[in-house]
Amino acid sequence: MSRDAPIQPAPVFDETFNLRLVDLFRWRRDVRRFTPDPVPDRLIEDLVAIAALAPSVGNSQPWRFVSVETPDRRQAVIANFNACNAAALNDYEGERAALYARLKLSGLREAPVHLAVFCDRATQAGSGLGRKTMPEVLDYSVVAAIHAFWLAARARGLGVGWVSIIDPLELAASLETPPDWKLIGYLCVGFPQEEHQDPELERQHWQAHLDENDRLLRR
Ligand SMILES: Cc1cc2nc3c(=O)[nH]c(=O)nc-3n(C[C@H](O)[C@H](O)[C@H](O)COP(=O)(O)O)c2cc1C
Repeated sequence: MSRDAPIQPAPVFDETFNLRLVDLFRWRRDVRRFTPDPVPDRLIEDLVAIAALAPSVGNSQPWRFVSVETPDRRQAVIANFNACNAAALNDYEGERAALYARLKLSGLREAPVHLAVFCDRATQAGSGLGRKTMPEVLDYSVVAAIHAFWLAARARGLGVGWVSIIDPLELAASLETPPDWKLIGYLCVGFPQEEHQDPELERQHWQAHLDENDRLLRR
């Protein structure tokens, strides 16, 4: 994908497109079950380029994607997850603990692609605009890029699972990333075994959809 395309008239996003776009949002899922089919490198590179179209504070573009490929590093990530997941399970009791233990909370073993996504907190890009008042907005910019990646991946038939049950400092050590890079998300990527219109955690009765949420207040 090139950013040097000739200037074109702004596209019109008609009703059909908008309906399909809502389908994309509805059918995006957090995926933990992947087929073993390999994902072409080119597809991942295209998705990272699309993710880089995301908004960022001051146009700082602080996202850094690390493709985790070697078996020993992947094994370290899985060990990291297993330890954190066992500790998380300890925080629950009774039926909640039993349900937590049954949940599949990552596809780390199956996913053909692993991407650790970091925020480069030392970046000078953007000259600090917007960060003086809310330093955390640099991290939010990376979340926006991950969301763009997630949706674009889904549109191409790929599934993405976001894993946060990971010790971020241990992960950074495993990947030998620069000290100023903060882990924002660890993504498992691959072709999904199944498609669903509802989240797995709803299907497993962990957390229902909150219809009663006050989403919009007016003042
Ligand atoms: C910041 C973030 C961290 C997440 N971490 C995990 C995780 O560690 N394990 C997991 O199974 N799902 C994780 N998820 C996925 C959520 O469980 C999922 O988005 C939610 O249940 C709604 O399901 P859906 O994404 O299919 O709509 C995470 C999602 C977000 C946005």
